[in-house]
Amino acid sequence: MRRGSIASLIGIGIVAGGIAAAVALALPWLPKPASKEADRIDPLFWFVIIICIVVFAVVIAVMTYSIIHFRAAPDDDSDGPPIHGHTNLEIVWTLIPTLLVTSIGIVSAIVLSRNDAVGANVLRVNVTAQQFAWSFSYPDAKGLTSGVLRLPKDRSVLLTFTAKDVIHSFWVPEFSQKEDAVPGISTHLHITPNRLGTFPVICTELCGLGHAVMRTQAIVMSPAAFDKWLHSQSTAVTSPNAGVAGAAVFKNNQCGACHTLAAAGATATTGPDLGKLPAYAKTAGKPLADFIRQSIVDPNAYVQKGYPKSVMPQTFGKALSKQELDSLVQYLISSSKKG
Ligand code: CUA
Repeated sequence: MRRGSIASLIGIGIVAGGIAAAVALALPWLPKPASKEADRIDPLFWFVIIICIVVFAVVIAVMTYSIIHFRAAPDDDSDGPPIHGHTNLEIVWTLIPTLLVTSIGIVSAIVLSRNDAVGANVLRVNVTAQQFAWSFSYPDAKGLTSGVLRLPKDRSVLLTFTAKDVIHSFWVPEFSQKEDAVPGISTHLHITPNRLGTFPVICTELCGLGHAVMRTQAIVMSPAAFDKWLHSQSTAVTSPNAGVAGAAVFKNNQCGACHTLAAAGATATTGPDLGKLPAYAKTAGKPLADFIRQSIVDPNAYVQKGYPKSVMPQTFGKALSKQELDSLVQYLISSSKKG
């Protein structure tokens, strides 16, 4: 091969590699990590991306060079020269990919095994996925259940997933990991949050009509704030004051993720405006308390005009205790009358 050819191959390779590297670096592909596991996964991504950029540059260089230099003349209808294999070339193009893929496998296995190593003083959280809501229960806190995932910073957390209906998938981009929730089996995910903040929890498995709204939040708190929350919530839900208890049930079950309710500061519009419950009850021709109870326990019994059927989870009747349901109904009556 002439010296000029090698120079142009290298030149094309540098340009192609440069463009690919610029695309990789200039755009914010990944969120800022918020867990120890994500801190290990991030460099692994870059390890793979660098390999990809190099392979891309080589392929583009050889391809571009070949297209330009070995193109047949427009009037050339003859066959190309017969070529037999090139043993050395074949050894090289088998060996290099083998080494690259094996090294990716080894580095990934190291990261995976470190990420799965559960630390001391682990916090267990049971995650239940259903159409179309997440619920998180804390077995160490008398089974306290919340619709928002609250986690203490710098503590090993082991999430155990179950699904009530179809397959869902748990994803917090800042934690860099995904785990499926599958009916009939339990799956696990280990996270060690290391940055305070509020991050989105997203369902990434198409699970039905409400898949796009199957979202909540993961809030990473300081260990002291977390303990305070855990304590205050387990007492609030069992509070004799129905208003306090109802507000806690409303918040813990993420009603505000889909509904508007001024008293709770909720402004979502996926479901009907709960400030208008008295008017809806009138249209449905039912006493307010009965109407609210029925709408929580059996949401398809009456669906407000303009809203789709079956988006509201149909499991609250079973998920809420009688006491929780009573206080939620009371809370909705008093706060919808105010609004
Ligand atoms: Cu659950 Cu998508």
